[in-house]
This record gives sequence, C-alpha cells and structure tokens, in this order.
Amino acid sequence: MVLDALIKIKNEIDPTLTFRRSCREGICGSCAMNIDGCNGLACLTKIPSGTSSTITPLPHMFVIKDLVVDMTNFYNQYKSIEPWLKRKNPPPVPEKEILQSKQDRAKLDGMYECILCACCSTSCPSYWWNPESYLGPAALLHANRWISDSRDEYTNERLEAINDEFKLYRCHTILNCARACPKGLNPGKQIMHIKQLQLSGNVTESLCVDGLCKVRMDATTTVIAPAATVTLRNSHRYASNAAKETLELFACFISKHIILQVYMHSLNT
Ligand code: SF4
Ligand code: SF4
Ligand code: FES
Repeated sequence: MVLDALIKIKNEIDPTLTFRRSCREGICGSCAMNIDGCNGLACLTKIPSGTSSTITPLPHMFVIKDLVVDMTNFYNQYKSIEPWLKRKNPPPVPEKEILQSKQDRAKLDGMYECILCACCSTSCPSYWWNPESYLGPAALLHANRWISDSRDEYTNERLEAINDEFKLYRCHTILNCARACPKGLNPGKQIMHIKQLQLSGNVTESLCVDGLCKVRMDATTTVIAPAATVTLRNSHRYASNAAKETLELFACFISKHIILQVYMHSLNT
C-alpha cells in the first residue's frame, strides 16, 4: 500500500517526511491524501505497478507540513451540526438505552460508517470555493445521520439550522464526493435527502438553490414559486456573489466533463 511506501521512505531515506497515520486499516481516516489525482486513504491504496506515483496533500486545504493539512475548519464544521443525540423528553425507561426498531436503525446505514477522513469535502468544487461558508459533504452527511435518527427529538431544529443557501445549498449534486469516499458512502445522496425533507415542509421556510435555479418553498401552502416572483432571502448576497457562483458552476461543469471522459475511456478499454 502507498502508506507502506511512505513509511519506508521516512524510515530509510528522509526521516523529515511528515504525514498522518494511525490504524493502517482504513478505520481512523488519518492517512487521507491525494494519490495520482484522486483523494483516498494511503493505507488502502495499492502502489501502482511499473509507474511512478504523485502524492500530494488533500486539495484546497492549508498545508501544515508535507502531507499534513490543517483540519481545524473541517472539524469545526462537523462540530457545528451538533453530532450527538439531543432529546426533549427523558428516556421512556429511566436509566436504560432508548430502543430503535430494526427499520429505524437501518436508516442510519450509509452514514454511521463515515470515518471523517475529509476525502469527500476536499474533492468537492463547491467546498473549494466556499470552505468557510459551505458545510461540505462530510458535515452534511453527519447532519442527515442525526436528522434521520429516530431517537433524536430535534429534527426540525436541525433542518432549520442548516437551511441556508451557503451551509447546505452550495451542493450542486455533482457527486465528486461519492466518487472520492474510500468507505463507499454517498454524501451527495444524504444531502439530497435533507433538501427533500426541507421541501416537504418540515421547516417553516426553505430556500432551495440548485445551480442557477432558485425557488422558495411555502410550507403552509406547498407552493413552489419561480425565482422571478419571490423575494429571495439574503438576495444581496447573491448579487455580490454572482461572479463567484458563475466560476463555481464552471468548475462543477469541468469536473463533470472530466468524469464523463474517464467513464467513456473506461468503456473503450
Ligand atoms: S454532490 Fe457535488 S457539490 Fe454536493 S457535496 Fe458532493 S461533490 Fe460537493
Ligand atoms: S463520507 Fe466518506 S470521504 Fe467523506 S469523510 Fe466520511 S468516510 Fe471520508
Ligand atoms: S491509517 Fe487509518 S485510515 Fe489509513
């Protein structure tokens, strides 16, 4: 694995080489880096035979040293979604765990497995452009993990807390995140689930921004109005960010194009 090569280099060639690692089996998420243009875990990525490899830190992150990036913003965003069980009522049976049906437990599949490696967020063009304001796929996947938990009693509050054109609606459903995840998870799908819940009227107001399409959901009358007929909340922010958004969509388009090219190439070979 690539991690073995890095350890060998550190042990035998350059002891100053700096990288994170702990478990060596894809559990801790420490060894995330960019290997030959793809984000992944060094301990799970095979060394390509017969060619050289280019290894760089996770993209668009501040580098502390060599392959070690500053994860402070990423962890703060995770913390901001309050990733713990929140209850308004005491447990049905005092001093006992709160039970879940098998069906409710199954709703957490595809989310609880996340190891917070940041491969997804750092492969997301929207996150590259808005790292401080957009929560990114990893934090939003965890937001949906607690929104979907039958034992949590703050579902509407959680939905409202991220009902924001930057925190949530910077996701343009390009799914780079799903392609990058070494655990086979699909954060983009979880983000879509959050948007669906907001549009279904679980919150009093919802502002959906998907690409250039802006709509407002009225939870009481269940009306979706075209962008031209509604007053957009924080519309001044849209005006000031129009150029940035255009560039962001261009970056998303390029990513889609590259994925398509790779896909076509794989079909031809
Ligand atoms: S679906 Fe695309 S825009 Fe949304 S989080 Fe994933 S990579 Fe980012
Ligand atoms: S969703 Fe996947 S890529 Fe993203 S942080 Fe979790 S394990 Fe890593
Ligand atoms: S060392 Fe833990 S995931 Fe790679």
